[in-house]
Amino acid sequence: MTYENILAEKRERVGLIQLNRPKALNALNGPLLSELAAALQAFEADEAIGAIVIAGNERAFAAGADIKQMASASAVDMLKGSFVELFDAIRAVTKPIIAAVSGYALGGGCELAMSCDMIVAAESAKFGQPEVTIGVIPGAGGTQRLTHAVGKAIAMEMVLNNRMLSAEEALRFGLVNRVVPQERYLDEALELAAQIASRAPLAVRLGKEMVNLAFELPLSQGLDAERRAFYFLFASEDQKEGMQAFIEKREPLWKGR
Ligand code: CAA
Repeated sequence: MTYENILAEKRERVGLIQLNRPKALNALNGPLLSELAAALQAFEADEAIGAIVIAGNERAFAAGADIKQMASASAVDMLKGSFVELFDAIRAVTKPIIAAVSGYALGGGCELAMSCDMIVAAESAKFGQPEVTIGVIPGAGGTQRLTHAVGKAIAMEMVLNNRMLSAEEALRFGLVNRVVPQERYLDEALELAAQIASRAPLAVRLGKEMVNLAFELPLSQGLDAERRAFYFLFASEDQKEGMQAFIEKREPLWKGR
C-alpha cells in the first residue's frame, strides 16, 4: 500500500512508519492520521511483524496537530471530524510501538510520542505542549499521559506555560527511555524494536497489556489480572519451548502460539 503523508516499510520483523510532511514539520492533519492508522492496522495484522517504530525526520517528529486545518473549525466540526479519535488507532495496537523522536515533538506530536510504548530520543529532541499559546489545551492525551509520565509539577508547567523539555530533561523526568547521539536515533529505535520482536510474541503482547493496565486498575485488580495472564501463558507452545530451550542451553524458536 502506498501513502501520501507517511512512508511505511518492513525491516525484517519491524514495521517502520515515517511521518512525511517535512514542509509542515509533520503537522498532523486528518489525511496523515488516517494513513498512520491504516499503516498501524496493516502491521498489526501482519504476523511477520513483531514491533513497530514511528519516526519523523531530523528536524521534527511532529510539531502538533495541523493548526491551519483546525483554525476555523467549530466545536461541532471537531466532534464530527473524528480527528482526535484517530489517535485511538494507536491505543488499539497490541504490538509494541517505539517512537523515534528527533527535533520537535510538540502538541499532538508530543501526544503521539506518548501514545507509543517507548520513546528513543535524539539529543535534539524537544518535548512540549504549546496549546495554551494558541488558545486551547492538549486534546489527544497530553494532560493525562504527561502527568503520568513526568508528574504533576512538570506537567502543569508544560501545559499551563509552554515549558519545553530538552531530551536530557525528558530522560531525567521519565518521559523517554534513552537519549542517543543525533545520527543514531533511528537505528537505536530500530534495534530496540528488533530485539523486542525477537522475544516470545504472546508474552510481549500480554506484558504490554499488563503494564498499560497499571494505569487503569487499582493495584489488587492489576495484580489479579497479571496473575491470570501469567497462568494463561502456560497454555502456549512458546512457554514450553522457552523453558525447554533454557534447560537444553539453546536458543528458543518462537511460534507465537
Ligand atoms: N500546524 C500547521 N503548520 C505548522 C505547524 C502546525 N502545528 N507547525 C509548523 N507548521 C508549519 C509552519 O506554518 C511553516 O509553514 P510555512 O512555511 O508554510 O509558513 C512550517 O511548518 C515551518 O514552521 P516555522 O516556519 O514556524 O518553523 P520555525 O523553525 O520558525 O518554528 C516551531 C518551529 C517552533 C515548531 C513552530 O513551527 C511552531 O510553534 N509550531 C506550532 C507548534 C504548536 O503550537 N503545536 C500545537 C498544535 S495544537 C495541538 O497539537 C492540539 C492537540 O493537542 C491535538
